[in-house]
Amino acid sequence: MGVLHNLISIQDLTREHIDMILDRATEMEEVAALRRKILDGKIMACLFFEPSTRTRLSFESAMLRLGGSVLGFADVGVSSAGGKGETLADTIRTVERYADVIVIRHPLDGSARVAAEFANCPVINAGSGAEEHPTQALLDLYSIRKMKGSIDGLHIALCGDLKYGRTVHSLAMALTEYNVEITLAAPEQLAMKPSIIAELKRAGLSVRVVNDLDGAIRQADVIYMTRIQRERFPDIREYDAVKGRFRLKYEDLELLKENAIILHPLPRVDELDPRIDTTPHAKYFDQVEAGVVTRMAILDLILS
Ligand code: NCD
Repeated sequence: MGVLHNLISIQDLTREHIDMILDRATEMEEVAALRRKILDGKIMACLFFEPSTRTRLSFESAMLRLGGSVLGFADVGVSSAGGKGETLADTIRTVERYADVIVIRHPLDGSARVAAEFANCPVINAGSGAEEHPTQALLDLYSIRKMKGSIDGLHIALCGDLKYGRTVHSLAMALTEYNVEITLAAPEQLAMKPSIIAELKRAGLSVRVVNDLDGAIRQADVIYMTRIQRERFPDIREYDAVKGRFRLKYEDLELLKENAIILHPLPRVDELDPRIDTTPHAKYFDQVEAGVVTRMAILDLILS
């Protein structure tokens, strides 16, 4: 078994673990370029019970670049879980017989932890409900470190849907391991959970909570935008009341620090003006690319 077993929550990782993953991801730039097949013969199963473009395809690309193989259903509707009512436990007990590692995305909070309980092989959480998305947080950290030189000392603004956005939950918890200033910017209805704010404060970070984008973006070195998570609202009227708020406009760029970078886990809806894409602030497609080496590092540390 590798250095890591499962990757379920960012909270299971120490600063040493995170540094190890980010350093390994840096080495993976070369492993990828040299096409070294260090996971030859290993099989990764993707169990995606929710839509995905980047997470699934970058995991698959990472595994294929390392010489491994991938399997998974094209759509949950064609699996027994979707079509015949099979339990998650039985699905996991089956798939672990076919693969060396399971990557799971599921709409329920806690689902990845449950999967890990039933699996004898390692499990990686690729998004569990509104709760967590630890591999996204790791690629976000990797992107920030690569683009800004280091993470410590930065002012990071997390903006948008901080209530239902799982990427910002994992990223905020990861940032408790660093010496950073944080601004949390969300409409009142979509504020960050008090328990996460308490964690940030307990870690000794300076945390500012604001309800507008203007107040967040002026001092930030990293502006992390997110999509309002329409599919997670219990009542669509609540979504209608907040949609369209928190849009970063092209004209807003003049408020930014000269070297500020804009990140976004993607997909975006209307929160990032496409005219921003060609400016030096826009780093979200480079962030997409970081997903491959970061996931190569995670697979290697789990399987090698
Ligand atoms: C995010 C997710 O699935 O949580 N996407 C991703 O993995 N990059 C963000 C989102 O859906 O808004």
